[in-house]
Amino acid sequence: MNDIHLTGDKLPLFNSDLRQQIDDWMAKYPIDQKQSALIPSLHILQEANEGWLSEDVMRALAAYLDIPAISVFEVATFYSMFELSPVGKNKINICTNISCQLNGSEEIVAHFKQRLGIGLGETTDDGKIMLKEVECLGACCGAPMMQVNRDYHENLTADKVDQILGELE
Ligand code: FES
Repeated sequence: MNDIHLTGDKLPLFNSDLRQQIDDWMAKYPIDQKQSALIPSLHILQEANEGWLSEDVMRALAAYLDIPAISVFEVATFYSMFELSPVGKNKINICTNISCQLNGSEEIVAHFKQRLGIGLGETTDDGKIMLKEVECLGACCGAPMMQVNRDYHENLTADKVDQILGELE
C-alpha cells in the first residue's frame, strides 16, 4: 500500500513506521484473522492522529486489514478509549462507577468543574484538557480514580487533582 496522506489530519497515516507497527500486530495472529489486530491498530492510529479517529482513518484501516468498514466502526464506537472527534491535548477520564462514586468521584468532578470551568464531555478553550466520564477502569481499590492520558491516578483528593493538573503541559 502506498503512503496515504489524509486531508484534514495533521499527521500522514499509514506511513512506513505506522504500517510496520500494524504489521507487527498482524503477525501475532493467523493470516486469516487480521481483524484480531484491529484494537491495537486503532490505538496506533489514534495516537498518530492527535488522539482521535476520523472516519477516513477508520476506512483506511479497514482497507488495510481487508475487513468491512462497519467492523472497524463497531469497535471504535463501542469502547470509550477511542475518540471519534478532536480532543484536548490531555485527556482526563474520570471514573464515576460505583466504587469511585461511593468514595467521592462526585466531589472530584465538581472540583474539576470549579477549577477548569468545564464539565464532563467538554474541552477547555485553550484545547489543553478534555474531561470525560468513563465506566470502571479496573482500579476500584484506588477509588476515586482517574486516567490522565496513559497514567492512572488513584485515591484522588482535590489537592491531588490540583497537583496533577499543575504538572500537565
Ligand atoms: S469503579 Fe472506578 S475504577 Fe472501578
